[in-house]
Amino acid sequence: MSHIIVNANRSAGVINKNIYGHFSEHLGRCIYGGLATADGGMRTDVVEALKKLNVPVLRWPGGCFADTYHWRDGIGPRESRKTIVNTNWGGVTEDNAFGTHEFMALCEALGCEAYFSGNVGSGTVQEFSDWVEYCNMGGVSPMADLRRKNGREAPFNVRYWGIGNEAWGCGGNMRPEYYADVCRQYSTFLNCYDPKVPLYKIASGASEDDYHWTRAVVERAGRTIDAVSMHYYTIPGDNWGKKGSATDFTRDEYYITLHKTLRMEEMVENHTRVIRRFAGGKPIGLVVDEWGTWFDVEPGTNPGFLYQQNTMRDALVAAINLNIFNDHCDSVVMANIAQTVNVLQAMILTEGDKMLLTPTYHVFEMYKGHQNARQLESYAETRTLRAEDQAVPDLHVSASQQADGALLVTVANLNDEAAAPVNCLLAGVKATAVSARVLAGAPGAHNTFATPDAVAPAPLDVALTDTGFAATLPPCSVAAFAVQAD
Ligand code: AHR
Repeated sequence: MSHIIVNANRSAGVINKNIYGHFSEHLGRCIYGGLATADGGMRTDVVEALKKLNVPVLRWPGGCFADTYHWRDGIGPRESRKTIVNTNWGGVTEDNAFGTHEFMALCEALGCEAYFSGNVGSGTVQEFSDWVEYCNMGGVSPMADLRRKNGREAPFNVRYWGIGNEAWGCGGNMRPEYYADVCRQYSTFLNCYDPKVPLYKIASGASEDDYHWTRAVVERAGRTIDAVSMHYYTIPGDNWGKKGSATDFTRDEYYITLHKTLRMEEMVENHTRVIRRFAGGKPIGLVVDEWGTWFDVEPGTNPGFLYQQNTMRDALVAAINLNIFNDHCDSVVMANIAQTVNVLQAMILTEGDKMLLTPTYHVFEMYKGHQNARQLESYAETRTLRAEDQAVPDLHVSASQQADGALLVTVANLNDEAAAPVNCLLAGVKATAVSARVLAGAPGAHNTFATPDAVAPAPLDVALTDTGFAATLPPCSVAAFAVQAD
């Protein structure tokens, strides 16, 4: 029996709902065939499923694609939109059927905010500045008039603007000191057109543990931005060679994957330290705007499309990272898993008219009660499984309290063989009722179009105790405990 302690007397703050954000790039079948139809219309089955996650924010149009994207190509009558080559992702034709208006219609349907990643690598300051004016200017101006001509009277009121993407790589191969100056320049011309819609400017951030990048950007450009981003992908194999199969992996690879994903905590903490040390007192947020698993593509699929299956191993990766972000809600202001549909660690996979929900989708659904809730300090008595580059704790936990006093405690059992009996002690509140759901299966368990519900949440037996609640988590599982409390 392991003890878990949840202390309602101590909190790091409110969990920004944007930690449960998503990312959608013009890459493979994320947009066309995923979120949208081939002609840029909305894919309503996918949208209906995503609505159940309470998606708070959606990042678009890239990724690497963003620094090749010229937003004017994607507005106006379809027949006059430019057809371009998607040079980053498979060299396929991009006919710009899905552009600014279509993306904003999607966000409105989902009830989420838009996070635009602007073109810094191959665009111009004027082009980026015009995009903000096009989206946000309510009065008379050249860009607002153009938006009206294209059928949209009211401004879109886009708050979140990324100043380039991976400027150290596909976004221009810049040095951080150079990028910091470019970022300052772009930021200067991204104008706020309505005091009720202040812009939130996000600098292109570091890859993984490149703390020098964060320091250089925050030190030099900190006064012109609100947040700096960071990207960290969980890749069990070699970043540049074989990354490993999404479904066909060994026990060693299972533990290596979890060990590697746990590094997110150290990176979040170290980037936060650097931000706080060099921001001159300004509260600059950390935006983890790309995270998740990255495996070899499914056999027989286009290597440039990054289409991968999604198993219980992915569910644990999602649970671990969301627990980490919850517990670092005093610095992580947004996170966007990569990517929403059909790309990398997706929520949804589609095949023609069919769609399925992945184990990762179910984790986001089970965790959605953490959005905007008050984070609570939590602690699990753990045993370390395996050693060295496979070492992981058996349990991983986070907790929060909603405005009505109810608690959500989310626990992952990382042990692939043994069930975990847990006794959760609640401090500062008295539980009056508890219910639980669990997502469980073998590490490689996944949903297919033939068996779309092979992995799905199920009720979990849980008992109230004098001090909290007790339950037994199956091996390789994620559980969500909903606790009514006085
Ligand atoms: O998400 C896939 C790619 O990964 C993005 O386009 C890029 O930003 C990152 O390298």
